[in-house]
Amino acid sequence: MRITELTLHNFRNFEHQVFRPGPGVNLICGKNAQGKTSLLEAVYILCCARSFRQGRERDWVRFGAPAARVQLQFETRRGDESLELRVAEGGARKEILLNGQPIRRNGELATRFCTVLFEPGHLNLVKEGPEERRRFLDTAIGQLRPKYQNVLEDYGRVVAQKNMLLRQGGAQEQLGIWNERLAALGSYLSFMRFSYVQKLSVQSGLHHERLSKGAESLSLEYQTFCGRPEAGQMEDLGQIKDALERELWDALPLETARSVSLVGPHRDDVELLIDGRSARLFGSQGQQRSVALSLKLGECALVEETVGEPPILLLDDVFSELDRSRQQYVRSRLRERQTLITTCALPRPSKTAAVFRLEQGEITALS
Ligand SMILES: Nc1ncnc2c1ncn2[C@@H]1O[C@H](COP(=O)(O)OP(=O)(O)OP(=O)(O)O)[C@@H](O)[C@H]1O
Ligand SMILES: [Mg+2]
Repeated sequence: MRITELTLHNFRNFEHQVFRPGPGVNLICGKNAQGKTSLLEAVYILCCARSFRQGRERDWVRFGAPAARVQLQFETRRGDESLELRVAEGGARKEILLNGQPIRRNGELATRFCTVLFEPGHLNLVKEGPEERRRFLDTAIGQLRPKYQNVLEDYGRVVAQKNMLLRQGGAQEQLGIWNERLAALGSYLSFMRFSYVQKLSVQSGLHHERLSKGAESLSLEYQTFCGRPEAGQMEDLGQIKDALERELWDALPLETARSVSLVGPHRDDVELLIDGRSARLFGSQGQQRSVALSLKLGECALVEETVGEPPILLLDDVFSELDRSRQQYVRSRLRERQTLITTCALPRPSKTAAVFRLEQGEITALS
């Protein structure tokens, strides 16, 4: 996969810019607040249909402008394709077009244009709360499985509706209907996450082993409504659904007392283990960073395995946060994939990268 051209029109602090990155490593250099993260954000939105930054969609529109547009031309094994983001009516209406056709559901974007983002916040993936790790899993799986993103969105709506009903002291019968729906959607999410975590455990484990020069072994364990399931428990979707539905019924008295939904994949976590011990509780800062890096590189490997070509790597200001040996390790993994790296460092000519200067929303190619 390769971006050939990105056009930004009234997106964030970009008025009108055309960016043509090279096929390999692209260094985008600029001082603070010039638009580096915004540039990566534009690319990311066309992959995932949402931003990795906080805020609302209307924030994407340049201050004072009525609408924003981002157009992306890219190449894949299938040939030349295009994506377009339109945010109109001051941000009230968002539309994404794939090869000129508006998509109906975000899941349609899966496998079409894949990116893996790594930003300084991800270095905290290990020590943050479970929500961050769930988001990581959901983003990673969502771009590989067309159905996953849609089910996730439906599930989120059902949890919100059930919570509302719980707050209003709704009847058992009504709650039962929501529980059935939750079990149907939630079992699929648990099933997909379990299988993804198993594969990610292998891939991230390989990277962590190399990063620690063979000294440590990283493994991942998925935690869901039934604890830490074994492979045998997660093979049959019907059985998972029945088990989840039972748990939901058992939890109902407590849920009613607390007025909140307590069981289901919205409470899941991934335990990250170094030599069998929790990296969150026992890992040093450096070990935790290596785990985060290994997870991201594992994510890249799984995109490649599933889609058949490497994703575009987006590294937002993350190099300066890594020590020399980890930097070198990441560099060694960048071959044969397009990478956009933003940095506050001064632009310098490079033999191995295309270098761009970014100043007040204007991009200039330097080499
Ligand atoms: N909707 C918007 N319209 C205009 N400007 C915006 C909008 N949203 C954000 N900005 C501004 O765009 C500028 C660039 O932000 P961005 O986060 O991309 O900078 P950056 O180059 O990544 O900086 P840093 O090195 O500090 O991370 C900031 O000054 C920000 O306030
Ligand atoms: Mg930034």
